Amino acid sequence: MSASLTIALAKGRILDETLPLLARAGIEPNDDLNTSRKLVFSTNQPDIKLVLIRSADVPTYVQYGAADIGVAGKDVLLEHGGEGLYERVDLKIAPCRLMTAGLADRPVPRGRLRVATKYPEITRRYFLQKGQQVELIKLYGSMELAPIVGLADLIVDLVDTGNTLKANGLIPLDHIMDISSRLIVNRASLKMKNQAVKDLVQKIEQAVAVR
Ligand code: PRP
Repeated sequence: MSASLTIALAKGRILDETLPLLARAGIEPNDDLNTSRKLVFSTNQPDIKLVLIRSADVPTYVQYGAADIGVAGKDVLLEHGGEGLYERVDLKIAPCRLMTAGLADRPVPRGRLRVATKYPEITRRYFLQKGQQVELIKLYGSMELAPIVGLADLIVDLVDTGNTLKANGLIPLDHIMDISSRLIVNRASLKMKNQAVKDLVQKIEQAVAVR
C-alpha cells in the first residue's frame, strides 16, 4: 500500500486550472470544491485527499508538512520565502505579471514614494535592487484603490488582462516579473513518502506536458 498524500489547493483561478490537471493525473475529488463549504475532500484515490485553504497559506501548510504537496503562485512563494519546501513543477497555469502601476492622469511624484502592496517582501527587494527608497504600505487586497484615495503613489500588484487597472484609472508601469503557479512539495515528505510523491509529481508533469 502506498503512503497517503494531502494536497493543498486554494480557491479561485488557480483551483479552476488545477482541477483539470489533477483529473488528467487520475485524481478526481468526490465533491464539488467550488460549491462545498468543506475544507477537506476525499478523492477517487483512497490515499489522496485535498485541503482547501487561502492561497497565501498554501506554502505554510506545505512547509510544516500539514500538506505534503501544494499548488501556489510564484508571487505567494517568493513572499513566503520557500522554507521547508521544494518547488518541483512549473504548472504554467494562471500566468500573469507582477507590475508597478500608478494613476494614468498623474505623473509619479519625485522623492520617496509610498507603495501599497500585498507583496511587501518582493516589493522591498525590487526597490532595494533599483536603489530606490520607498515607504511600503501593506494591504490585503483591492490595491487599485490606494492611489485613487491618496494612500499611495504606486501599487505593486498582479496584472493579467489589465482590466482592473484600467477600470480604476491606473496604468501598468514597470514589469517586475512573470508569475505562474508551481507545484510545491514538503521536504520531509519527499524523503519519507518518496515513491508516492515521485509518482504523483511525475503524473502531474505529464498532465502539464500534454496540455
Ligand atoms: C488579481 C489582481 C488584480 C486582478 C488583475 O486579483 O490583484 O486585482 O487580479 O487581473 P486583470 O489584469 O485581468 O484585471 P484577484 O482577482 O486574483 O483577487 P485578489 O484581489 O484576491 O488578489
